[in-house]
Amino acid sequence: MDGNHDAACAPQTISVSRSAWRWWKNLAARDGRVAATRQLLSALFEFVRDSTPERRRQRYGDAEYDWDYRVNTTSAAVGWRDRLLGVFHSPYQPTEAALFHEMIAALSAKARFDFPDFIFIDLGSGKGRTLLMASDYPFRHIVGVELLPALNYAAQENLSKYHSESQKCFAIESICADATEFAFPVEPIVLFLFNPFPEFGLRRVIANLEQSLQEHPRRAYVFYHNPLLEHVVAESVAMKKIFGTHQYAVYASD
Ligand SMILES: C[S@@+](CC[C@H](N)C(=O)[O-])C[C@H]1O[C@@H](n2cnc3c(N)ncnc32)[C@H](O)[C@@H]1O
Repeated sequence: MDGNHDAACAPQTISVSRSAWRWWKNLAARDGRVAATRQLLSALFEFVRDSTPERRRQRYGDAEYDWDYRVNTTSAAVGWRDRLLGVFHSPYQPTEAALFHEMIAALSAKARFDFPDFIFIDLGSGKGRTLLMASDYPFRHIVGVELLPALNYAAQENLSKYHSESQKCFAIESICADATEFAFPVEPIVLFLFNPFPEFGLRRVIANLEQSLQEHPRRAYVFYHNPLLEHVVAESVAMKKIFGTHQYAVYASD
């Protein structure tokens, strides 16, 4: 995996108006123009409501992990432009540590799973909290892909600062790129998705994964955290759900 993605991800290339237009166009194609415009107004209204100092204070509720590890993964310290872009891509929110470790423990208990065989990939990795948490396990390699340069920059800072006695994987990288165009490595993978895309983006990622599995058959697991668009993954011919709770679903390659 190379580092050339960063050039394609200069801040000016991710425009708010282009993101909003693409978001609206995809919704209009599915639900019609009136419904898409209503959803746009409602999303913008929610964005304004979410910008009050009170709401910002509430977002600091996710900062306990940062106190423990002296990193910056909280959603509270995200600038307004990146939050607005989040309306049209997916708002940044870090995965809770207890839930992450519960998901990995459940997979290890239910599947034949040897960590060093697998590459852990988080598509839509934000400030990189899952990358840090995944490094507690002896994965072969850990990769995060984040669209927004400021979040990716925070992730890279976190990777360089992170210190934990329990760290077992040190081959970690966070790259700035559009994850819907990510080319999967040919090794076995654990793919982590915490609602990173609107429906059209998720469909593209699942199609890319299916094509990659067809070209290079191998074991793959998908953790889908907060599976709001579960029907999209459930339609996949290459992945079958193996277990889940109301908070996540886990899929395995057939
Ligand atoms: C809900 S957050 C999840 C953060 C992280 N995976 C975690 O679990 O802690 C979703 C992230 O996906 C990113 N995102 C949205 N669209 C993306 C795209 N096309 N490519 C890469 N990242 C994207 C957002 O910027 C946001 O940081």
